[in-house]
Amino acid sequence: MKKLIKNGTIVTATDQYEADILIEDEKVAAIGVNLNEQADEVIDAQGAYIFPGGIDPHTHLDMPFGGTMTADDYETGTIAAAHGGTTSIVDFCLTEKGQPLQKSIDKWHEKANGKAVIDYGFHLQLLEATENTLKELPAIVKDGITSFKVFMAYKNVFQADDETLYKALLTAKEEGALVMVHAENGDVIDHLVKEALANGNTDPIYHALTRPPEVEGEATGRAAQLTGLADSQLYVVHVSCQEAIEKIAEAREKGFRVYGETCHQYVTLDVSHLDQPNFEGAKYVWSPPLRDKKNHELIWKAIQNGTLQTIGSDQCSFNFKGQKDLGIDDFTKIPNGGPLIEDRFSIMFSEGVRKGRISINQFVDLVSTRTAKLFGMFPKKGTIAVGSDADIVIFDPNAERTISAETHHMNVDYNPFEGMKVTGEPISVLSRGEFVIREKEFVGKPGRGQFMKRKRFNEDAVIETATAK
Ligand code: URP
Ligand code: ZN
Ligand code: ZN
Repeated sequence: MKKLIKNGTIVTATDQYEADILIEDEKVAAIGVNLNEQADEVIDAQGAYIFPGGIDPHTHLDMPFGGTMTADDYETGTIAAAHGGTTSIVDFCLTEKGQPLQKSIDKWHEKANGKAVIDYGFHLQLLEATENTLKELPAIVKDGITSFKVFMAYKNVFQADDETLYKALLTAKEEGALVMVHAENGDVIDHLVKEALANGNTDPIYHALTRPPEVEGEATGRAAQLTGLADSQLYVVHVSCQEAIEKIAEAREKGFRVYGETCHQYVTLDVSHLDQPNFEGAKYVWSPPLRDKKNHELIWKAIQNGTLQTIGSDQCSFNFKGQKDLGIDDFTKIPNGGPLIEDRFSIMFSEGVRKGRISINQFVDLVSTRTAKLFGMFPKKGTIAVGSDADIVIFDPNAERTISAETHHMNVDYNPFEGMKVTGEPISVLSRGEFVIREKEFVGKPGRGQFMKRKRFNEDAVIETATAK
């Protein structure tokens, strides 16, 4: 089966040029000017950008949290992702204390099997570093799960101790994996939460007030120092504030292999969203919390200067009615997380490229290419090149859209960006050469998404390519 995309402007992390793309089955077979190959279908992409499919390095689908389950599973979550221009995700596989890691991985495969419409990989949570868990890791890495996640927060739930983090770093160095941290000091947060509740402070805003930026900065600095000590590699997820950025910049200056991810919500929304009447603030309860507005430009600066390299969504959706309202009388019972998978690509284009904050190549690097390089998917994913998977977004840079829960595709009753106007929209999306979105309509099939066996971490692959604005 051959498809020919004609007349579009191809944009990668390094280039922008007008050329045609020939797709043969699942792969890009040729790129050239005025390709005249016979094809089963010719797609006219006049006026459109042709981007590599977005890669979201940070999702939580079909995940139990706070006594409930995320509203989006692998089917609804990946359909929404595809609408938004994302063709691969790497989801977090949760594990259980005292249980074989493989048992949790099998469970996560069951969640995705028959449901995912785009390709997916797993990061493996490490709750403890016992002799048994450490013994399992080499085979797991060999099977293509080449990143481990350690939570430094959520005391008595997901939080792991520093010994676990350090052992994870040592094993990652040995096996060629990347350690990821949720960097907030869970012990200090626990103290601040107890204090707030004792004072009768139960509203959603106290979620933010009990997780100040200092606890994120402290944990980020601690994880970075341990990475230097272990001579290993670290990826700090969902960086939200200057305090954490400073620690990442400091570590990178010392030559430590420390990388940082932020999310579109941290450059567009702020802490005032949690301070609204009628419990509306609960819609914005996730961790780390939204920060003071002044952080927006500081994060953009860190993106521009390469201190932060990727944009994740941190998709972890809960309905306002029936889930977020579990915490109506106590903010600690509000399930943490938001519906964020769908608008990552468009918001970063609109707020980043259209507003002149980043170059179009840097945009591609942030939402796709660098994630592919950091997490062992490049060049199969994250670029448009002969031989790469034909994961392609045909994007209208001038389309205007207002984000709304009325029109989104996530399985949830609100959208945190409700009413926000964005310019630039995915029109059609191909995953391994197959349309999953055609003219904004979903045309894929649940179950067609495949598990991505990822390569080991390779520092040399993570070269800085995109040109700064
Ligand atoms: O609040 C959030 N971010 N929920 C998902 C879990 C996590 O911390 O990433
Ligand atoms: Zn987290
Ligand atoms: Zn997360």
